[in-house]
Amino acid sequence: METAQRTALAEQDDGTGAETWTRATERLPAQLRKDLMVRAAQHGIEPWRAVRDAVAAWCGVPAQPGARVEQAFRAECEARGLTTARALPEAARLWFDANPVPPVPRARRPVRAARRIVVCNQKGGVGKTAVSSGVAQALAERGERVLLVDYDPQGHLSQQLGVPVIEDERKSLSSHMAGDAEGGLAALLTPLDCGFSGELVLLPACMDAFLLDVRLSRVRSRENSLERALASVEHEFDTVVVDCPPSLGLGMDAAIAYSRTRDGEPAAHSGVLIPVQAEDASATAFTMLMDQIEDLRADLGIRLAQLGLVVNLYDSRRGYIATSSLEKWQSLGTPPVLAVLPDRKEQREAVRLRRPLLSYAPGSEQAQLFRDLARRLG
Ligand SMILES: Nc1ncnc2c1ncn2[C@@H]1O[C@H](COP(=O)(O)OP(=O)(O)O)[C@@H](O)[C@H]1O
Ligand SMILES: [Mg+2]
Repeated sequence: METAQRTALAEQDDGTGAETWTRATERLPAQLRKDLMVRAAQHGIEPWRAVRDAVAAWCGVPAQPGARVEQAFRAECEARGLTTARALPEAARLWFDANPVPPVPRARRPVRAARRIVVCNQKGGVGKTAVSSGVAQALAERGERVLLVDYDPQGHLSQQLGVPVIEDERKSLSSHMAGDAEGGLAALLTPLDCGFSGELVLLPACMDAFLLDVRLSRVRSRENSLERALASVEHEFDTVVVDCPPSLGLGMDAAIAYSRTRDGEPAAHSGVLIPVQAEDASATAFTMLMDQIEDLRADLGIRLAQLGLVVNLYDSRRGYIATSSLEKWQSLGTPPVLAVLPDRKEQREAVRLRRPLLSYAPGSEQAQLFRDLARRLG
């Protein structure tokens, strides 16, 4: 286990036995473990808590601090003449029965505006697309209706999800933002069949977004152009996730402004989510993004929340540069580091196979880290 993860576990532990029950989770048969990870996410808890609760219920003791549940478990196994390896799956299956898939609260949907999560950083290759996609999948897996907007003309997100980019430039999101589109935006929405309990819908990219800044320069109140364009479809969703291009231009102003806290919306409900890497170049890019956010805030008089940072492609074996950079990100405090994602093959494999990571490798560490990230986003 990586040091960063150990630290994260220790932080969560607070005497609850996070490490003990994480180890127990890893001992479950593969399919059962995957199912448990998904179901735990649907209930908004970490898998280790689900396993601890399962074992506690199996033993008939309250799910309290780890050591006592662990002791009770050993005693109960001995009494029943079972090994812990046999008893664990049995306890997990009972937990499934007691914790069915929660109903999706559809009733609140029409009244609440969709939450907006804008994933941005003008540096390329830091993981904007990976994070946008992973977060959107984790939210859809736990039952939300999620719109994923491919706002990057390069169309990586669309390609990775196996969806063709939009050919007809008259219909594109950019044309809607510029105010000269043909037809409605809803016709462009592409539902993805991922087997999640919620819905994941993609608004694919169009090459014409390369010229978005030029077109926006002639548009009045251009900072509101993304908000105006998405207004007709937004209410259909719980969350809209925007995968931004590596740029700082007018199109980015519109994306950042789209994440503004609206009247009546709780603070830090919508906002920007910033993937960074544990290296020095990322720090410079981050400062530039902060300046842009500050300028927009001052110029437009809007409230902008920074939901957090995601330190991506983290590898402590890279030594001092990586570990000290991670510490620097963590010491910022605001915005908080919401996740540390290692460099993992499952991420690259899912991209190559054009499949969503959480359906390609639901039991992977990376999938679980995205579920944890989604939970931390609320
Ligand atoms: N945590 C990760 N582990 C492995 N590969 C990753 C990870 N995050 C991103 N990648 C890969 O790194 C490359 C750049 O990531 P991407 O999300 O496209 O960055 P951006 O959108 O910021 O340009 C992609 O090939 C992606 O598949
Ligand atoms: Mg990208």
